[in-house]
Amino acid sequence: MMWTTALLSIALVAPVARAFIRLPCSQLVTERFDPFDLTMDPNIDLAEESTCTTCRFKEDKSNYWTAVMYFKHPNGSYFRVPQMANHNTGPGYQAGGMTVYYFQPVPPTQNLTIVPFAKGFRMLVGNPMRRKNDIPAHQTAARATTFRCFQGGDPGSIGAPGGVEDSFEFPDRPCTGGIRSNIYFPQCWNGVDLDPPDHQSHVAHPIGGSFFGTDCPPSHPVRLPLLFIEIVWDTRAFNDPSFWMDGQPFVFSMGDPTGFGQHADYVFGWEGDSLKRAMDVCTSYDGIPANCPALTVQSMDRMNNCRVPNKVPEPVEDIYLRELPGCNPIQAGPAHATVVPSCDKVSTTVDAPLPTQPPSIVTPPWPVCWDGPGEDPSGLAPKCDPPKNPKRHLPRRGLEARVTELPF
Ligand SMILES: *[C@@H]1O[C@H](CO)[C@@H](O)[C@H](O)[C@H]1NC(C)=O
Ligand SMILES: *[C@@H]1O[C@H](CO)[C@@H](O)[C@H](O)[C@H]1NC(C)=O
Repeated sequence: MMWTTALLSIALVAPVARAFIRLPCSQLVTERFDPFDLTMDPNIDLAEESTCTTCRFKEDKSNYWTAVMYFKHPNGSYFRVPQMANHNTGPGYQAGGMTVYYFQPVPPTQNLTIVPFAKGFRMLVGNPMRRKNDIPAHQTAARATTFRCFQGGDPGSIGAPGGVEDSFEFPDRPCTGGIRSNIYFPQCWNGVDLDPPDHQSHVAHPIGGSFFGTDCPPSHPVRLPLLFIEIVWDTRAFNDPSFWMDGQPFVFSMGDPTGFGQHADYVFGWEGDSLKRAMDVCTSYDGIPANCPALTVQSMDRMNNCRVPNKVPEPVEDIYLRELPGCNPIQAGPAHATVVPSCDKVSTTVDAPLPTQPPSIVTPPWPVCWDGPGEDPSGLAPKCDPPKNPKRHLPRRGLEARVTELPF
């Protein structure tokens, strides 16, 4: 969450702090289907049925799904782009996966009371069929899914994700430190539906062009925690100029070479009232898991070793594939993509053993924790060697990030 520090140094308008919890979740499984299509039975209580979680907090058995990025080799073959640990997610390196944030609402919004997600709640953000920038810029939704192009270990500097520094489409230049997906989920709910057939109409983004400090529309007045996720793609192996002759070489798994189709699914699965307890108590400005006394932190080893078997018997990573898994031909747009009729694919054309190991662990080009004496000067890095019995964390006054309206 490197942008809080950056905000301290820019022009300040609204004097508000954004308290949040932030947790790494490593990769559970890579599959061809969205959970809504196949693998998720709505009657399953994730919190009760899951035996483990790949997330830092043991209480979080939610499912977070995103489209998967592939590199398209000039010879036409595809290789799944590995994910790597984000900044400040240690101690330990997560095996793939993402970083998950739950933000508290901040003034000047009228409504600072959050209602945590209910059991059975699901939502989808983004549209896998999108292939161009077709949401009016004044709508908050226009910035719900973006990309940051990392240069080396530099996390980037200007403001919250989705600002001027980030792109809506895949970056148009090689990113020497990888690419980060930034995905804001809707934070306003109609208060009624847990999961309508389109997985989207029960929720909305706030009005006003910013995800922070703005009001919910009257149609969706109930304020949810702001769920935000980041996925860091290790594109470093694919920066050779010979791979970029025909433009940027990445595609999403649904046949999207633009990046506009970036999307994510959320299935709420926190145990009991644990998310609410955490949101009530863990209101610091660093988001460091060990500083949240309401929840149970587990080690990176335990996270990385929580696995489920693939449901579709096909190889999807660690080898070059002749086509994207499933019926997902490349559709470059700008028209909306269409679903391939009568898809009967069960396996891909490549005959190879299924991955049985956990995803390999990539060492990112930045530290993930603070290994020096005392506290990290930025206040945002977890200690590499955390205390055995973490004390209740008091927010450090000097760290209150102040939010300005983003320059949208
Ligand atoms: C494309 O290149 C990769 C990397 O060298 C190779 O593994 C793959 O088999 C090639 N695909 C084809 C169709 O030649
Ligand atoms: C404020 O939020 C509550 C629940 O979080 C909701 O019931 C209420 O309608 C909201 N009020 C406004 C003015 O949006």
